[in-house]
Amino acid sequence: MSVTAIEKTKLAADFIRQQATVQPRLGLVLGSGLGVLADEITEANVVPYNEIPHFPVSTVEGHVGQLVLGKLEGQPVIAMQGRFHYYEGYTMQDVTFPIRVMKELGVETLIVTNAAGGINKNFNAGELMLIRDHINFQFNNPLIGPNQSEWGVRFPDMSEAYDPAYNQLAKRVAESFGVNLQEGVYVGVTGPSYESPAEIRMFGNLGADVVGMSTVPEVIVARHAGIRVLGISCISNMAAGINDQPLTHDEVMETAEQVKPQFIRLVKGIVQDILHI
Ligand code: HPA
Repeated sequence: MSVTAIEKTKLAADFIRQQATVQPRLGLVLGSGLGVLADEITEANVVPYNEIPHFPVSTVEGHVGQLVLGKLEGQPVIAMQGRFHYYEGYTMQDVTFPIRVMKELGVETLIVTNAAGGINKNFNAGELMLIRDHINFQFNNPLIGPNQSEWGVRFPDMSEAYDPAYNQLAKRVAESFGVNLQEGVYVGVTGPSYESPAEIRMFGNLGADVVGMSTVPEVIVARHAGIRVLGISCISNMAAGINDQPLTHDEVMETAEQVKPQFIRLVKGIVQDILHI
């Protein structure tokens, strides 16, 4: 008989537990160019994705492909250095498998990060944005199929997917650390082609402030699992047609490089308090 999704999750979690000295309560998903944050984790145990039973393997440039478990600002964390994207050909269940595994390991809070293109003309490349809400434009949903009631309800609420108390904390930390933090709506697309200028105008009209190729499925699954979420986008470029520069993955990575110190300062500040609210 084939192994069920629940069994796969438990097998992966058991394997990770055996390699780790901490029991993580906080999960971090580190987006393109933002994986350096995992280098700040102390007492670290590193688990490469390709060693974990049933874990997918990452292929995109700039993503390392490993879990780092340990302490960040004294808090027990598990970080994904590199995530799985729908455009790589994974199923929605593959993309979100690590979130299920985090839940199984005891994670209660998730900080998701990504690189995104700026749509809102008041934003600039190199700024950080707190994700207040999202628009799912991936024409798929990781919860399609029979509902696993052990995991969550059939019709999970998304009205406060990005936890309001966490958003307050992020704004407070940003202000006290002098980090400029924008706030807005993330629209998730499949990629891998960047958007056309007409698509970007449409997304702007629909109420989106930034666009990216990840995050939405992971947040849907986290909420299904009862995990509280905070989301941060690094605006790596202005989206197509917003200014007249062509988009390249190199630009995305270069900007992420420049924002890194601010990003690290902000997330570390948030991590200090997030498990206490
Ligand atoms: N569009 C979609 N995804 C992205 C972008 C973009 O402009 N920049 C970084 N990820």
